[in-house]
Amino acid sequence: PIDHAIRPQRLADYIGQPAVREQLDIFISAARGRGESLDHTLVFGPPGLGKTTLANIIAHEMDVDIKSTSGPVLERAGDLAAMLTNLQPGDVLFIDEIHRLSPAVEEVLYPAMEDFQLDIVIGEGPAARSIKLDLPRFTLVGATTRAGLLTSPLRDRFGIVQRLEFYSLSELTEIVTRSARLLGVEADQAGAAEIARRARGTPRIANRLLRRVRDFSEVRGSGVLEAEIADQALNLLNVDSHGLDHMDRRLLLAMIEKFEGGPVGVDSLAAAISEERDTIEDVIEPYLIQQGFMMRTARGRVVTRQAYLHFGLSRDDGMSPDE
Ligand code: ADE
Repeated sequence: PIDHAIRPQRLADYIGQPAVREQLDIFISAARGRGESLDHTLVFGPPGLGKTTLANIIAHEMDVDIKSTSGPVLERAGDLAAMLTNLQPGDVLFIDEIHRLSPAVEEVLYPAMEDFQLDIVIGEGPAARSIKLDLPRFTLVGATTRAGLLTSPLRDRFGIVQRLEFYSLSELTEIVTRSARLLGVEADQAGAAEIARRARGTPRIANRLLRRVRDFSEVRGSGVLEAEIADQALNLLNVDSHGLDHMDRRLLLAMIEKFEGGPVGVDSLAAAISEERDTIEDVIEPYLIQQGFMMRTARGRVVTRQAYLHFGLSRDDGMSPDE
């Protein structure tokens, strides 16, 4: 609900992801110039980087409505058929977590994407009927954490594929500054930068931390968002100096303390920290890998020297603190 106020509506207000922005700007302008709908677009990348935001921006820039759903919500072919037959010409159909569509639902999606045809069997047994009908042209925007999770027939039906990257410190600082302004919070440059530095390269986390730091600042500080108050609030929230949260530290420490730094298989790791394998692969480890705290190798996950150093440990003497 509050998110609504700070989510950018236009490509021009979207900060970061310069390659994605430039390409989409061109493809949207070209489609608009021809009076066509935009090609089906797949957006992938770790959670919180702006996949849903981009889907909404695409609809806004194309001047069409967006209808949103997600893979797990579309349980039956009929659920997707209902969405498809509700579309107006040109509309965006946004399917989040599109890798979680069931095979039966995916089957319905193929002819819809390719030929704008709905091809579905309703009923069972002798009363079963096959229904074919024309759909309006629409743009499917699919979002997923990893493109590799999609079946190749589905992936192949997207004309535009965009990968979102973690945001740089300066991009996140800009996002925090913008969000603070929209929320009516006074933030100085160092305060915004402190939140940005500890937000795991992720706007959703930055915006969440901003709200919590604002709470802290209003109750314990002057109400102005400064670096010192941000640091105190973030320490209280268990976000460490590198922006690693409780789960990040648990994962790295399990690798160090229980698996001698690795290599360790992701399933063993999942069991050791009582976490879902998917959560480790999609949510926790991408940032740790990008930041150089761990690596994926053919033989399993391995922590780096930097991870030991982060905890004040050294690899040579196992778990004893560095002198
Ligand atoms: N809020 C969340 N993501 C954003 C982005 N990429 N640009 C601007 N504001 C945002």
